[in-house]
Amino acid sequence: MDIGLVGLGVMGENLALNLERNGFSVAGFDLDARKRDNFAQRTQGLRAQASSSLADLVASLSVPRRVWMMVPAGVAVDQVLAQLTPLLSPGDVLIDGGNTLYTDTQRRIDALRASGILYVGSGVSGGEEGALRGPALMPGGSPEAWPLVKPLLQAIAAQAEDGQPCCEWMGPGGAGHFVKMVHNAIEYADMQMICEAYAFMQKLGLSATEMGEMFASWNEGELGSYLINITAQILQHTDPETGAPLVDMILDTAEQKGTGKWASQVALDLGVPAPTIAEAVFARTLSAIKTERVAAARVLNVPPTTPWPERNAVLNQLRGALMAAKVCAYAQGFALLRAADREHQWQLPMAQVAKVWRAGCIIRAHLLEDIRRAFQTQADLPNLLVDPYFARVMADSQQDLREVVAAAALRGVPMPAFMSALSYFDAYRSERLPANLLQAQRDYFGAHTYQRTDRAGKFHTRWGH
Ligand code: 6PG
Repeated sequence: MDIGLVGLGVMGENLALNLERNGFSVAGFDLDARKRDNFAQRTQGLRAQASSSLADLVASLSVPRRVWMMVPAGVAVDQVLAQLTPLLSPGDVLIDGGNTLYTDTQRRIDALRASGILYVGSGVSGGEEGALRGPALMPGGSPEAWPLVKPLLQAIAAQAEDGQPCCEWMGPGGAGHFVKMVHNAIEYADMQMICEAYAFMQKLGLSATEMGEMFASWNEGELGSYLINITAQILQHTDPETGAPLVDMILDTAEQKGTGKWASQVALDLGVPAPTIAEAVFARTLSAIKTERVAAARVLNVPPTTPWPERNAVLNQLRGALMAAKVCAYAQGFALLRAADREHQWQLPMAQVAKVWRAGCIIRAHLLEDIRRAFQTQADLPNLLVDPYFARVMADSQQDLREVVAAAALRGVPMPAFMSALSYFDAYRSERLPANLLQAQRDYFGAHTYQRTDRAGKFHTRWGH
């Protein structure tokens, strides 16, 4: 068999079927016998087989062996590795396709180095549908593994409009999983901003159907993206039992598995401003304290209703504001990639990252081709906001963002991601920030010293004397 797939949950099974459809023979294994049986049934008549054990799977593979793990990130990966690695030989390749923390991938690569087993940590995006029809793949790890897995991974990946596969080598160590983590962080921000636009529209008095139509029309323009498209569909979906829009029947407490939190933690560690990403994570945590919110709603007053300007004008501003806020969130994500790249010396191919995200993944959007072009033109671009194209987008839409943020603030609509995006933009474009005063305060109470604008050196003042 060309490849072994360990973990036959929906993602693993769909990836196996995708590989088979593209001409590769696949051996599948799962600890759960029912999943193995299910796989055997689903692959009847195909170039695929369910293996009865890991040893059986390994024995069926052509050399060098390629084994793709699709098991939950964390201890499960270490457990599979403990059983699998004694069965493998130098030059064999292991792929972890879960949402693994990039430092775990680095640790596993280091642990396997002496054995000669090659290790790839690959981001896989696109959910069940993507796994089956074409995901975006972000592999990184042992560089010698890339030629061995490239034909398979590029064959099953989604294709962008220009026919290019959404799968490129991201770099050594944990680079692939880092890129996937940032993908998810942008996904968090993107989703949160769409949800805030929805809350704003609700306050404006639109029905779910009207909102669905609005998102559908936005999807035709520069905001066109997978997430806007599914939002339009979600808002137009009726609950068969109640006849109400199904979205209205869903409990408003968001869950999360950790990738957005990791990205925010790494941003803090690396000293990269990524406030919109962090706000998106905090918005989920705030939503989750529902009982407290319900109690607080009884005590804390809402601002008096302010009349709205003409509805269509406001909705147009909201569209522009969403675009501007989205650019700020992407700028933060790419700045995080840039900083990690410098820290780890991965040589991340920034244009390729944007290229890979153009199709198959959850954050796929028209915008990504413009981002790819920006990094293609200037590989060392410090921030997307200063790329001439995006500077123009911000010039055209920043007023909309200001109007929407102000309108939301006046009416008590919580829009933390929009608001932080605007603050990020205003701070980033400020030649002078009030940090001079902050430094003076630090020096006042802690003799932490400060630098001057007019001469070099460190200074301390006995303030108040
Ligand atoms: C993807 C998704 C996928 C998963 C998220 C969900 O790219 O296909 O990002 O990886 O749906 O991890 O994450 P949360 O449960 O944290 O929202």
